[in-house]
Amino acid sequence: MSAELILQTRGLSVRYGQIRALESAHITVRSGEIVSVIGANGAGKSTLLGAIMGSLPPAGVATGEVLYRGQTLGVTPPEHRISEGLALVPEKRELFASMTIEENLMLGGYVRRHEGRSALRQSMEEIYEIFPRLQERRKQAAGTMSGGERQMLVLGRALMSKPRLLMLDEPSLGLAPLVMNEVFKVIARLRDTGVATLLIEQNSRAALQVSDRAYVLELGQTTVEGTAAEVAANPRVIEAYLGHRH
Ligand SMILES: Nc1ncnc2c1ncn2[C@@H]1O[C@H](COP(=O)(O)OP(=O)(O)OP(=O)(O)O)[C@@H](O)[C@H]1O
Ligand SMILES: [Mg+2]
Repeated sequence: MSAELILQTRGLSVRYGQIRALESAHITVRSGEIVSVIGANGAGKSTLLGAIMGSLPPAGVATGEVLYRGQTLGVTPPEHRISEGLALVPEKRELFASMTIEENLMLGGYVRRHEGRSALRQSMEEIYEIFPRLQERRKQAAGTMSGGERQMLVLGRALMSKPRLLMLDEPSLGLAPLVMNEVFKVIARLRDTGVATLLIEQNSRAALQVSDRAYVLELGQTTVEGTAAEVAANPRVIEAYLGHRH
């Protein structure tokens, strides 16, 4: 598969009033690549994903460019970005609490409605294969699910849109180790189908293991970049993010 340039940010900056949360971030992600962004709390990781998705909180003002498959996204609203193939699983897992798991998944496939119901059903079956728990609970209201089950559902819902660029903000948060391994396996399998993944993960070690390339974000700036192996071998990275158990 040829590696298409899926995402490129150029001088992407975000301010929340006086706070400069992101300062001229330059990031690229190609098809079939898993790229992780490592950084301390408050470094600007979620802000970066929000700026790419066009879903920053109202206080956030972005400048610079986000190019998706060579086209600048400008003021394209998030719904359009989803139709274009971007998907974000944000830090705040928002679900339609009174709807069932199945209804939530179907909503995730809304942008593919022209493909017809059976195509969406097929996708849903694939997600149930990955997360059997979701199938067991498919008629349950999303609002009554456990934290880990919610995690599975938000990821499943993002996959229903068949993204080309999947952005995950700490997908393993609250997941049991076995389920977390499952999530990382899913990401690796998606890579083989050409999906580009931009991954943020508190567990830097696990993130680097599954990634092709990585960036370190410090105070809103990308300070280190390289292959995952290079970044994992960087003394500063070892000291700050890998050397000690957090
Ligand atoms: N709506 C907002 N208004 C004001 N400041 C904000 C807002 N959202 C984020 N910030 C600030 O911007 C900075 C970057 O926040 P961001 O959430 O992007 O960090 P992060 O790297 O995702 O951190 P974490 O690892 O804790 O999730 C922080 O200093 C944060 O307090
Ligand atoms: Mg965050």
